[in-house]
Amino acid sequence: MTTRKPRVLATRHFPPDVEARLTANFDALLNPEDRLYDGPGLIKAAASCEGIMCAAGDPLNAQTIGGLPASVRIIATFSVGYEHVDVAAAAKRNIAVSNTPDVLTDATADIAMLCLLGAARRAHEGASMLRTHNWLGWTPTQLMGVHVTGKRLGILGMGRIGQALADRARAFRMTIHYSNRSRLPAESEKGAVFHADPDDMLPNCDFLSINAPMTPATRKWVNAERIAGLPKGAIVVNTARGGVVDDDALIAALKSGHLASAGIDVFEGEPRIHQGYYGLENAFLLPHMGSATVETRNAMGFKALDNLEAFLLSGKKPPDLVKAS
Ligand code: DGY
Repeated sequence: MTTRKPRVLATRHFPPDVEARLTANFDALLNPEDRLYDGPGLIKAAASCEGIMCAAGDPLNAQTIGGLPASVRIIATFSVGYEHVDVAAAAKRNIAVSNTPDVLTDATADIAMLCLLGAARRAHEGASMLRTHNWLGWTPTQLMGVHVTGKRLGILGMGRIGQALADRARAFRMTIHYSNRSRLPAESEKGAVFHADPDDMLPNCDFLSINAPMTPATRKWVNAERIAGLPKGAIVVNTARGGVVDDDALIAALKSGHLASAGIDVFEGEPRIHQGYYGLENAFLLPHMGSATVETRNAMGFKALDNLEAFLLSGKKPPDLVKAS
């Protein structure tokens, strides 16, 4: 007797090894063309599915979740951030939601350091000068940036990724300041200066890195007033979520020179980002690449599968179950 495999909708085209395991263990509906589903399309595609493997940017809002077929029992997102899934709406429908914590910590901290260095050292301007054949040779005053070694780095959100960034920054002899919902134990703090009120941290930031999740409390947290609280010439780095930054305020401060530069990997409304970023030479911009290594994307996929398999094949609680905050 053959037992029917549970049907799982993959909303995106996932790495080959991940899709191979998905296909081996489930009746998988793949998306080889990687087309983006809108809400109604996703509801239709999920017909007779028990699980959905989704990713950042999928519209799993209350309306979509409300329209999902009754067969759907779990949404496993291929991401650590889960602001694209309305977890409360899922709970009302008795649908479990899981994410992929831990496995993208190092890759994302690496990109945060790249953004910090790229912004400080004018990497975008240098690379484009060379590639547009406008480099006429070394000069004593060419593309002078901001020194990194020994400067103060303020980290908003000292979770796994914030701490991994702090470890990298210590190798550059940076002094670490941080603000977090709760103070870390001394062995994790490693001498970093804790600010219970994040606003008190701002004057201490030659660099400010956003590593906090997107929540109602962090929405547009980096606004004009807080940017004004940073020292003149500071650099802002964001590798968390675009919505934490008020784009108009950041762009205005980059244009006025209050901020020397910014290094940004995540944007509000991506990929249709604020038009103002395109003309800014003093912004080092990347297209949401924090977790984009083969090893990390495989690990994220395998973690999403661990959750789907535990729940749909073994009847167990998904190991990375998330709850509405
Ligand atoms: C995440 O996992 O949250 C990354 O930003 C990729 O979406």
